[in-house]
Amino acid sequence: MRRILVIGSAGQLGSEIVPELRTRYGKENVVTSDIKIPTHENAINSTPFVQLDILNKEALSKCISDFNIDTIFNMASILSASGEKSPLKAWDVNLNGLINVLEVSKENNIDSIIWPSSIAAFGPTTPQTNTPNETILSPTTMYGITKVTGELLAKYYYKNYSLDTRSMRLPGIISSKTYPEGGTTDYAVEIFYGAIREKEYTSFLDENTILPMMYVDDCIKCMIDLLEADPKKLRRRVYNVTSMSFSVGELAAEIKKHIPDFKIKFKPDFRQEIANSWPKTIDDSFAREDWGWNPHYDLEMMTKDMIEKLSKRL
Ligand code: SER
Repeated sequence: MRRILVIGSAGQLGSEIVPELRTRYGKENVVTSDIKIPTHENAINSTPFVQLDILNKEALSKCISDFNIDTIFNMASILSASGEKSPLKAWDVNLNGLINVLEVSKENNIDSIIWPSSIAAFGPTTPQTNTPNETILSPTTMYGITKVTGELLAKYYYKNYSLDTRSMRLPGIISSKTYPEGGTTDYAVEIFYGAIREKEYTSFLDENTILPMMYVDDCIKCMIDLLEADPKKLRRRVYNVTSMSFSVGELAAEIKKHIPDFKIKFKPDFRQEIANSWPKTIDDSFAREDWGWNPHYDLEMMTKDMIEKLSKRL
């Protein structure tokens, strides 16, 4: 049985993947860690928990040997919009943090590392429709720069130290458990809170902005399927993945089917330029061919599930 460490377990992705990992691999085999002590809601299921700063390499190494870890999910990241406000912090957490993970993994003979890259690795000169796996990676955000560099670092450790690093370029992830922080795709989560609480939402992206997205259940499946994929079948270290693409207006219209008096306004801010630099649709055929990637949720199913889950909670 794997012994898994989830770094960044209190965040949007970490908090969602931990319960599924615990179901599959056993509660005691999944150690959670975050720079923040988990909030009450997350704390319910959070032991074993270690408070850990990804920039503290010694503490990271100690945690790995204390708990006999062989598998790491590195979910700690400063996202695109926060990264533009604090570029050096994004560099530090996303890259110095990642290289700490790679170094301690090399020293402790870690078997597998899952580290998400992002659609932010692409940039304004990348083809924006059906963006291929292998294409121009010339991002204009610090977050994107850290993702491209991280991809290269992970490949370097694979090539030179046989460290089994696996990455997926995640699109915007829509989830209901933990509010996302500092991303450009966050509008697609915030809009549900607005619709359910106030029946209105002001979008920081304009009506026609189309971005690739994925529902969190598919995202969890994606990460675990890639972790468990047969190494002989993997032609890549980094895979494009997607499940749906829609505009802000299309999402609002779908929400209106459930909440007819929902009203949306548009007030684009600096995040519009970030969104404009990212693809609209993604070609993820390598992931489908190599490890059977096949998402379940489309816009209609995702919207219905988000409204049901959030309405119960809010
Ligand atoms: N969700 C991320 C962001 O918006 C993209 O990977 O920054």
